[in-house]
Amino acid sequence: MQNRRNLLSGIALSTGLGLATAFRPKAALAQAATGGGQAMWGGRFTEKPGALMQEINVSIDVDRRFWRQDITASQAHAAMLVKQKIIAADDGEKIQGGLKTIIGEIEAGTFPFRREFEDIHLNVEARLGELIGPASGRLHTARSRNDQVATDFKLWVRDALDDMQLKVKDLQLALVTRAEQHADSLMPGFTHMQPAQPITLGHHLMAYVEMFARDVSRMADARTRMNECPLGSAALAGTSFPIDRTMTAQALGFARPTANSLDGVADRDFALEALSCFTLCAGHLSRLAEEMVIWCNPQFGFIAFSDSYSTGSSIMPQKRNPDAAELVRAKSGPISGDFLALNTVLKGLPLAYDKDLQEDKPPVFHAFDALDLAIRAMTGMVLDFKANTARMAAVAASGFSTATDLADWLVQNLNIPFREAHHISGAAVKLAETKGVELSQLTLKQYQSLNPGITADIYRVLTAKASCEARTSYGGSAPAQVRQQVVRWKGLLTAKG
Ligand code: ARG
Repeated sequence: MQNRRNLLSGIALSTGLGLATAFRPKAALAQAATGGGQAMWGGRFTEKPGALMQEINVSIDVDRRFWRQDITASQAHAAMLVKQKIIAADDGEKIQGGLKTIIGEIEAGTFPFRREFEDIHLNVEARLGELIGPASGRLHTARSRNDQVATDFKLWVRDALDDMQLKVKDLQLALVTRAEQHADSLMPGFTHMQPAQPITLGHHLMAYVEMFARDVSRMADARTRMNECPLGSAALAGTSFPIDRTMTAQALGFARPTANSLDGVADRDFALEALSCFTLCAGHLSRLAEEMVIWCNPQFGFIAFSDSYSTGSSIMPQKRNPDAAELVRAKSGPISGDFLALNTVLKGLPLAYDKDLQEDKPPVFHAFDALDLAIRAMTGMVLDFKANTARMAAVAASGFSTATDLADWLVQNLNIPFREAHHISGAAVKLAETKGVELSQLTLKQYQSLNPGITADIYRVLTAKASCEARTSYGGSAPAQVRQQVVRWKGLLTAKG
């Protein structure tokens, strides 16, 4: 208790703040009288920490972001301590009252976040001491900042995963809406970025609905796996107090307490897993963004963004740049960097808690913010773009895109083995290329020179529309298939719960 005063006055000196300005005098008195909220590591120290020590140690600017989770966890812990008769009921009440006041202060923007108290845990505890006096010192019974931070951060990451799933679903819904509008809009499908087979824009957009569905399911999986409560692991070895870990786990919405106290304080898999989910999702956004950049290039001319998603050039008046799409495309870089950052921090860390773990938060917060913005921007762009359906259909019909259909016709009508049919179709492409025409413009005579069995029926399959509509296999590009998927996804995405 003595040491708390030493620490406080040391800090007051080092920051040039007298105690009277750092605290309300009455509260400071209460604090001094009781030493409530004793600093964790002051006992064996006579000197205050050096300025650089404080600077490298402080994390309040980062971890204040989960103040609410910190207080929620403290409320649960205090209630459990009372129920287990580890602390007296009236102390418990004072603690709950003080925590409530702190919530009000933080919400009102009047809470004094102080760097001299290192992190959010000590800031809340210090303030609690000022507000309620000696009882505040009982809150930290049977817990440590190690299980506290693991719990708080887990709660934050869990909320983040829940939130992100909703954002991804909004994007999926936007994609489904546009896919429904464009279930019949022909466009060229590509492999190797070369014209391959005609598809529809709807089909293309629905591919992303599937991708993002995997992101949602990955986040849901990660959430389930992480949902064990570290609180009660204490510093590393658990506690000798008769705590009820199931009670706190339940109060905080966890499925169960973590089963090993060392793992409880040392585990950051949940954060890394969230980052891996975010990284994959950012990669998917990047792919779609890249396609949009290509599609809105005038040489493609497939889509155009309205002014609200375009920017101009300061020198070239004709420019209409898809900056938002480009930035979404780029976000995948810093977000996967965040994954790598945390993975590297965790690598080789011995059990149990190490201060390295304090470096877990910046990458997670950064990745969350970046992805959150990228998803919202992408949802906006998906709803915004205008498709030039005539242009897309014309391109879909060009580039010999129905050569596969020609080969398939030969197989289906003349019972030619596919390999041979492929060869004949290839010869037709070569012929069309030399004549400077499309496959549908070769004469029947020319076709019959390649195989005498070919009849005029061949022309039926050589249009882009027929080609696309013929792909009725499950998951294929036929508009009927696409519509089926649209209906299925609309149901899934708008279902309650
Ligand atoms: N600010 C610390 C962190 O974010 C809290 C835990 C500190 N624990 C300790 N033993 N110093 O990890």
